[in-house]
Amino acid sequence: MKKDTVLILDFGSQYTQLIARRVRELKVFSIIEPCVMSLEKIKKINPKAIILSGGPHSVYERNAPLLDKGIFSLGVPILGICYGMQIVVRTLKGKVRESKKREYGRAQMYIDNHKDLFFSLPAKIVSWMSHTDQVDALPGEFKVLAHTSNTKYAAIGDIKRKVYCVQFHPEVVHTDFGLQILSNFIFRIADCFANWQLEDFVAEQIREIKKKVGSRNVICGLSGGVDSSAAAVLIHKAIGKKLKCIFVNNGLLRKNEASQVLKIFKGNFKIDLHYADASKIFLRELKGVTNPETKRKIIGNEFIKVFEAEARKIKNVEFLVQGTLYPDVIESVSCFGGPTACIKSHHNVGGLPKDMKLKLIEPFRQLFKDEVRQIAKILGLPQEIINRHPFPGPGLAVRILGEITSGQLKILREADSILEKIIKKHGFYDDIWQAFCVLLPLKTVGVMGDKRTYEYVAAIRAVSSLDGMTADWFKIPHEVLDEISNAIINKVRGVNRVVFDISSKPPATIEWE
Ligand code: XMP
Repeated sequence: MKKDTVLILDFGSQYTQLIARRVRELKVFSIIEPCVMSLEKIKKINPKAIILSGGPHSVYERNAPLLDKGIFSLGVPILGICYGMQIVVRTLKGKVRESKKREYGRAQMYIDNHKDLFFSLPAKIVSWMSHTDQVDALPGEFKVLAHTSNTKYAAIGDIKRKVYCVQFHPEVVHTDFGLQILSNFIFRIADCFANWQLEDFVAEQIREIKKKVGSRNVICGLSGGVDSSAAAVLIHKAIGKKLKCIFVNNGLLRKNEASQVLKIFKGNFKIDLHYADASKIFLRELKGVTNPETKRKIIGNEFIKVFEAEARKIKNVEFLVQGTLYPDVIESVSCFGGPTACIKSHHNVGGLPKDMKLKLIEPFRQLFKDEVRQIAKILGLPQEIINRHPFPGPGLAVRILGEITSGQLKILREADSILEKIIKKHGFYDDIWQAFCVLLPLKTVGVMGDKRTYEYVAAIRAVSSLDGMTADWFKIPHEVLDEISNAIINKVRGVNRVVFDISSKPPATIEWE
């Protein structure tokens, strides 16, 4: 059966992928294309609906991206979001006002028309705003559909032409009934059929990868995390032995992690896996280093060196697979020259040497973590990989504050594995996005068996999150915290104090470095 397509024209918003993700949640196929796409190409795609994303520009800027007026003659329902709204209004000769004041965050919104876009919604909802300019006069046939105390035109629509615009962001979770609003647009207004599923994505990727790779070999850095594991198995399904996986042990992995990865991928999946144990090299390079960004850069560079050396042993290679996800892409853009602020340089994005001359295959670049987990399940990966908490590329190095030594790594591994076991025993593991220990470079005084001790502090970090981009600390019950603290202090030599991190992201980050 034919699948309907929702075309998302990207005007540069941070949330464009989130719009695509919401459409996927509604089981409709969607593609993102640049806002400058020609009408001819749009016609070829033959979309059932078009969504115009937000963007960082003002419609008054000299180089502001424009909209081809012809788009309104296609007879395809359109939803403009934020900048998407302003550019629709400007193109149709309404007025957009430059505003000095930014409206950012939650706004109480009052719905004036419940017919289609806001069908079945309450009279007032919380919407999420993030804009400077706002609409001042409506073009032709447009009517007000919702307002806030700050703007008369929070949502507008030309109902006959099926062109709708919203000033707020229905795609973010902070907007009440955001998914319902998108669903109303896609199903009530645009008549789409909900028949797309992630299995289609997998089948499509397998077909495309097969075609792209031909007779060449593909190498894939396998970390044992769900992203690279799912990417490897997906590509293995497409091209079999032409996939060569490289697993670098950087000496910064969790307890028993290396042996587990070898067993699953070499043993169970029969993937051609090349194992490089470079623990000693990494530890040597990290000796004396305490600055978090320096650690990350060293680990990133070292990883590339080891990886390249291993890759050189494999012949006829043209492609490199990476399990990059969408949140990695956004958060790292700025560290490699993009417009948003640099928080941390995630070492699996953008860190490839320029002379490596391999083409990238990144099957999950547009997906979020939970979607990749679903794909991993479809591909038959074991539960212990699918549900394993995310683990950063720089590994335990960003969880040992200050200098890293093999002694501290041993302490942290033990403490961390105790935490994991207890959390699993109490059934919290799957409700938590990440739970781990952090070893602080601080020694405090304690008393054990009547003797004075002077040992390290271990911090417990546990957070709930949907995508790692924002997070709240997970409320582990006191009696479980008690059990964890007792077990760590009693069983791990070198720790005599355990503390619990109760910060959310933002303003803290999930990892401590
Ligand atoms: P932060 O600490 O930035 O972490 O709040 C957000 C999520 O990203 C993971 N993380 C990384 N993942 N390479 C990765 O693959 C990295 O360099 C890296 N740094 C942080 C972190 O564990 C959390 O899930």
